[in-house]
Amino acid sequence: MIVLGSDHAGDELKQHIKAHLDELGIAYEDMGFYELKRDDDYPVIAKKVAKAVQSGEAETGMLFCGTGIGMSMCANKFKGVRAVVASDMFSVRHSRLHNNANILCFGARVMARGLAADLCDLFLNTAFEGGRHAARVAMFEEDLEK
Ligand code: RB5
Repeated sequence: MIVLGSDHAGDELKQHIKAHLDELGIAYEDMGFYELKRDDDYPVIAKKVAKAVQSGEAETGMLFCGTGIGMSMCANKFKGVRAVVASDMFSVRHSRLHNNANILCFGARVMARGLAADLCDLFLNTAFEGGRHAARVAMFEEDLEK
């Protein structure tokens, strides 16, 4: 299952990616916002999507805001969440291959729709390599209090 979420700045791009997923026949759940205000608080949605991924309810999340930055910062507060904001193919591919990223954050104000759809496909179709990278990813959450 894929969960999606956006604030007012990311809504249009989220709708475009939803249509793209519909065309591909890929199931998703839109976790909001549904009725846009002029100035929605993106952390509300970042938390909803991050919790769904953290709990295992969803395998993958996609978050859309103006830059992708606030969404990724907030989502990464949740243990087990590995959110990435990236706008090039190499970074998105390696966020899956090496970092096992589980949420992709889009900056709707800095990204064209066509690129966003390609990045979405790449993220969904690239598997984690595991091996030495698994040990490194496991180290993310060691000794967090120190
Ligand atoms: C909203 O104006 C904007 O701050 C938000 O969409 C996002 O870019 C935050 O990181």
